[in-house]
Amino acid sequence: MPEIKFYNRKPVPVEMHKVKIVQKLHLLPAEERLQKMKEAGYNSFQLHNIDIFMDMLTDSGVNAMSDLQQAAFLRADDAYAGSESFYRMQRKLQELFGIDYCLPAHQGRACENVLALRFVDRPGKVVIMNYHFTTAKAHITRLGGRVEELVIDAGLETESDLPFKGNIDLEKLEACIKEETPENVAYLRLETGTNLIGGQPISYENMKAATEICKKYGIITVMDASLLQDNLYFIKTREESMKDKSIEEITRMCADLFDIVYFSGRKFGFARGGAILVRDEDMFHSMEDMIPMFEGFLTYGGMSVKEIEAMTVGFDETMDMDVISQGPQFIKYVVDELHEYGIPVITPGGGLGAHIDARQMLPHVPQEEYPAGALTCAMYLCGGIRPMERGTLSEERNPDGSERIASMELIRLALPRRVFTLSQCEYVIDRVKWVWDHRDLIGGLRFVHEPKTLRFFTGRLEPTSDWPRKLVDAFKADFGEDQ
Ligand code: F0G
Repeated sequence: MPEIKFYNRKPVPVEMHKVKIVQKLHLLPAEERLQKMKEAGYNSFQLHNIDIFMDMLTDSGVNAMSDLQQAAFLRADDAYAGSESFYRMQRKLQELFGIDYCLPAHQGRACENVLALRFVDRPGKVVIMNYHFTTAKAHITRLGGRVEELVIDAGLETESDLPFKGNIDLEKLEACIKEETPENVAYLRLETGTNLIGGQPISYENMKAATEICKKYGIITVMDASLLQDNLYFIKTREESMKDKSIEEITRMCADLFDIVYFSGRKFGFARGGAILVRDEDMFHSMEDMIPMFEGFLTYGGMSVKEIEAMTVGFDETMDMDVISQGPQFIKYVVDELHEYGIPVITPGGGLGAHIDARQMLPHVPQEEYPAGALTCAMYLCGGIRPMERGTLSEERNPDGSERIASMELIRLALPRRVFTLSQCEYVIDRVKWVWDHRDLIGGLRFVHEPKTLRFFTGRLEPTSDWPRKLVDAFKADFGEDQ
C-alpha cells in the first residue's frame, strides 16, 4: 500500500481492511502460565490455544480470511472427482503462474513428500537450496538424500542492511553442481522468503541467475512459493529494476524461471491446502499417481473444497499491494522498535514475523541447552505470547547422536496476516523489552522425551534450573498478580 502520511510525520503502518469478525482472547496471569508451560513440557507447540494471549507461533493456516474468501465457501462444489472448485483453482493458477499442470495436496509438506519421492530416487542424491525448511529437508533425508544450503554468507548475519539476504551464492552453486556432478543433483529448491533465516527475500535477479546455471547443467528447478507474497512485496519495493512492474508481472516473471512451483496454501492464498504446479506434461504424469495414493483424488488432493475456493480468491488478493504490504510493514514497525532498544533482531525486517537472535540475547545459555527454546518459554511466561523456536531444537541430531548446532538460533514472533492490531503489536514490543532487561534470569532446557524426527513438535523438556520460577517472580514484582 502507499505509505499513509501522518500530520505528525510518525511512520505508522495503517491497516487497509476493517474487522468484521472477532475471536475473544484470554490473558492468564503469570502464575497460571507457569503451570501451563510446565504441563506443556516447556514446548510451545504443546500449549492449548485457549491459554495463549498472542499466538505468534506461525502464520500457517491462521491468517484472517476476507469477506470474499468466506463468501466463496458457498460455491464449493463437493464431488469426489471432477469438482469445479478444483478447476477454478487450476485456471487461476494457470493465469497467475503460466503453468498448466496442477497436483493438489493437503498442505506444503505433502508437496515436499511427493517431490522427494519422485526425484530423490536413490540414497546420496543432493537437493541444493538457498536454505532448508524443516519439512522439506526431513522428506529428503528420510530417503537417504542430502541437502546443500548455499545461501549467501550475509544471510546468516543477524544485522545487515542487505535487501535480499535470502539470495543463493551463485559461485558456490556452480561449484557444488560440478563437485556433486549434475546426475547426482535431484533438483534446485529456491525458497522465496526463506523461513528459517528470518523471512528474508530472494531477488528476481538472483533467481534468474541461479536457474540459468541449473538449466546449463540440465538440473530441475523448483520454487517453494509458500512465502511468495512477502517476497513479491520486497521485489517490488527493494529491487530497483522491478519497481515499475505490477505484482502480477513479477509473479509471472518469477514463475517463468522454474520447472516446478509448489506452495503451502496455509500461507500462500490465506487458507489451508497446497499444490504442485508442473510445467512439463511427462513430468506431471510421473508424479500424478502419488496424489490419489497419499492425498486424495486428483481434483481435491486432501483439501476441503471450501478451502480450495477460499484459496483461489486468496491468490487474487495476493496480487493486491494493499494486502501484501500489511505483513512486511507491521513487521518492520516491530523490528525497528526492538532494534532501537538494542535487542538483537534480524535486520532488515523481512516477511513472516520479527526474529530475535537468542544466541546473542542469551550468550550464557549454550546452544546444546536450546537458548531459542528457552526464550520462547520466557515470552509465554512474561506475556502469554507464543513465539516459535527456530534454532537447534528444530534441528535433528547427527547420525552419531551429537547435537547438530543450528547456524541461526532464532525465535520468531510471527504476524499472521490481517490478524493483530498495532496496539497488540505494541504490547508484544513492551513485553520483549521487559524480557530483554531480565534476560540474565533465563536458563536452558533439556529433553525428557526426545522424538527422533521433527522433535520440536512433540518433544517434552524441562528447565536446567528453577529459572522459570525466578523469572515469573520478577515479572509479578513489576506487574502484579493479575498480568
Ligand atoms: N515451505 C515453507 C517455506 C514453509 O514455511 C512451510 C511451512 C512449508 C513449506 C510447509 O508447509 O506447513 O503447509 O506443510 N511453514 C509453517 C511455519 C509450518 O510455521 O512456518 P505446510
